[in-house]
Amino acid sequence: MKVANLVGVLALLALAFSFATAYDPSPLQDLCVAINDTDSAVLVNGKFCKNPSLYTPDDFSFSGFDVPGNTSNQLGVHVNIVTVDLMPGLNTLGVSMARIDFAPNGGLNPPHYHPRASELLLVLEGTLYAGFVTSNPDHRLFAKILKPGDLIVFPFGLVHFQLNIGKAPAVAIAALTSQNPGVNTVANAIFGASPSINPSVITTAFHLDRKTCGGSPGSRMGEPYISTL
Ligand SMILES: *[C@@H]1O[C@H](CO)[C@@H](O)[C@H](O)[C@H]1NC(C)=O
Ligand SMILES: *[C@@H]1O[C@H](CO)[C@@H](O)[C@H](O)[C@H]1NC(C)=O
Repeated sequence: MKVANLVGVLALLALAFSFATAYDPSPLQDLCVAINDTDSAVLVNGKFCKNPSLYTPDDFSFSGFDVPGNTSNQLGVHVNIVTVDLMPGLNTLGVSMARIDFAPNGGLNPPHYHPRASELLLVLEGTLYAGFVTSNPDHRLFAKILKPGDLIVFPFGLVHFQLNIGKAPAVAIAALTSQNPGVNTVANAIFGASPSINPSVITTAFHLDRKTCGGSPGSRMGEPYISTL
């Protein structure tokens, strides 16, 4: 291979690698502890760094993942996610972490995706049925039954879920490749939009009748409707 070609290939590889390995921007300094500047009217893509002379060990640590979450809710799940908002030292580092508790017999972390992160999930206790679905046009489901010590990865931006199929509570820890991964719960986005999505959109998209999705036959674009779900 000619040197020029080789350089070109290497440059392309380097470019592909830089896109593939980081979504949050790379840090431009060792540390950039976030300040919670609620008074500032200036919004940046991320957070400001506080004065380095004021950094403390607490900026880089968090306590509380030993505490079980309260799963007494409709889905039987509790997600405690620690992003840059709770741990200012995460600013610009491209990582965050969550503890997820599942109620016995069907606690569900419902189908959702993270617009800014891939996720690695480690089961600590219990038995989870977990998986993800690829995007159009294949929509392939990759799902597994996971026991303590098992890991699964949910690739960037893909819809995924975890269901507790055991008779005991389940606990998992998730690591995410963003200081602020974001969450979009699919059912909430569709059926809980505010204002409500016109029922015609939902009935056609999901092959439902209007009664199922809560719309009245007379509902018009932009009109709120009462959900019967
Ligand atoms: C858990 O949440 C439920 C519902 O919000 C509440 O009634 C209950 O007191 C909570 N339990 C604990 C231990 O906080
Ligand atoms: C920063 O602000 C967010 C949002 O107002 C809040 O939830 C969080 O607890 C704050 N973090 C710290 C470390 O004060």
